[in-house]
Order: sequence, then C-alpha cells, then structure tokens
Amino acid sequence: MTDLVVRRLLINLEAPFARHWCGGDAFRSAFFNALSMSFPVGEQFFIDSVRNGLKELPPDQQERFAKEVQGFIGQEATHRRIHALFNAQLEKQGLVNAWEGRALKAQKLLDGEDVRHWLAITAANEHFTAIFAEWLLSHPEWLAGSEPRLQTMWLWHSAEESEHKSTAFDLYQALGGNHQWRLTWMRRITIVFLGDALRQTVLNLKRDGSLWKAKTWTSAAGFLLGKRGLLRFSYGRWREYKRRDFHPSQHESRLSADWLAQNAQQYSVLGSR
Ligand SMILES: [Fe+2]
Ligand SMILES: [Fe+2]
Repeated sequence: MTDLVVRRLLINLEAPFARHWCGGDAFRSAFFNALSMSFPVGEQFFIDSVRNGLKELPPDQQERFAKEVQGFIGQEATHRRIHALFNAQLEKQGLVNAWEGRALKAQKLLDGEDVRHWLAITAANEHFTAIFAEWLLSHPEWLAGSEPRLQTMWLWHSAEESEHKSTAFDLYQALGGNHQWRLTWMRRITIVFLGDALRQTVLNLKRDGSLWKAKTWTSAAGFLLGKRGLLRFSYGRWREYKRRDFHPSQHESRLSADWLAQNAQQYSVLGSR
C-alpha cells in the first residue's frame, strides 16, 4: 500500500498569465490547456470510482485500502481545485471548454453500471496520466520559459499522479476485474482520450488565432514526435498495459520523489492519511 500525502500548493492562480504561457509557444500552451480542461470533470469521476469501489470490497479488504483511497481522493480533489482556478483564467482569455461537456455526457452512460467498469476506465486514464507525468518530470524543459508558478503546478500534479498511479488498478484487481475488460476499456479510452485531446487543442488554437500558422505545427511535430517528444516517449509504455502481468508499479522511477523533496517549499502537507 502506498502512503499518499495530500499537499496544498502555495501558488497564486488568481493572477492572470499570458495566452502563450508555455514558453511563448502556441501549440504547447494549447495542448496543456486542453489537458487542464479535462481534469476537473475527469478527476471527479476517478474519485467517485475509487470511493464506490472501496465500498464494494469485503470489510477486511476495505481496511487494507481505506488509507490509500483517502489519500487518492485528497490528491485528486486538490488537483481539481487548482486546475479549476487555472481553467477560470483560460475562460477569461476567451477559450471554450468543449471537452468537459462531452466527458459529462459519456459519464452519464455509466450510471448504474458495475463499479469495475468505472475502475477499469479510471485505471486506463491513470495509466495515461502516469506516462504523461513521467515524461514531463523527465523533460521539464518543455515548460522552459513559463512562469515558475505554472511550472510548479504541472510538475506537482505530475509527481502526485506518479505517486497514486496504482490505486485504481489495485482496486480493480481486488474486486475481481478481469484482463479482457481492462484491455477493452484501455482501447476505448485511448480513442476517446486522444480524440478529445486533439479536438480541444485544435479548438484552443482556433480561438487563439494560431491554428493556421506554420510555426504552430512545426512546434507540434517536435513536441509530439521529436526525440524528447510525448508520443515517442509514450508508445512503448502505453503498450505494456496490455501485458497480462502488467502493474503500474513496474514503471517505478525516482523523479516524482526527487521533485517533491527538492520543492518542499512550494507546498504544505495537509496530512499523511
Ligand atoms: Fe490528478
Ligand atoms: Fe490521478
């Protein structure tokens, strides 16, 4: 079991930031903004999944998971709050969050479904976020030129995603979730997640007037497909999820713990639950 600490980030997100806050780069800003737009509604879904999953466990198992689930919920709830503040700034910049509405509609279809479906969806999403987190912690230079408070927000979120990446997966297994459904949901989530991320990024670029600029797409190519690019980093790790003996902890690295240790002045600890 993981001891998950809930941290309060000591940054001010009430103050506005530049439209191309990510190092002056339109594509990178639009892409990170798109991800942020999906977080409040996505993370609420993850919270509900693990909370309801925990209730379905037999009492002795509940005890084993209770502390970790509480930590998971605390971390995701904090992410939601911080990203809602960030997203409020995006709205003031004139961006429109279309991802949220689509996600809420899709989630409605799951009402009353077996909690293992919810957990398989959450585990798949958490695998995506864990890969993204590892990539960003390995290549913080993608945030170079951004305000320190924004770099802190993204790296703190990444560090915590890496910390709690096993929670939904372990609950799914403990509830007898099978391999086949785990893969089915990963396939579906991959299509939905990549499709939504692309659509929202394009919409952000359109609103911002950067969609038809060559510079935007040169940047996109390097960011996604270059040597240190996100897709190149992610593909092999994404595929590993299909292995029958896959477990999120197999992708262990020190980067999350190192960042948290080196940036302790950026947050206060709400409690080790
Ligand atoms: Fe999160
Ligand atoms: Fe998460």
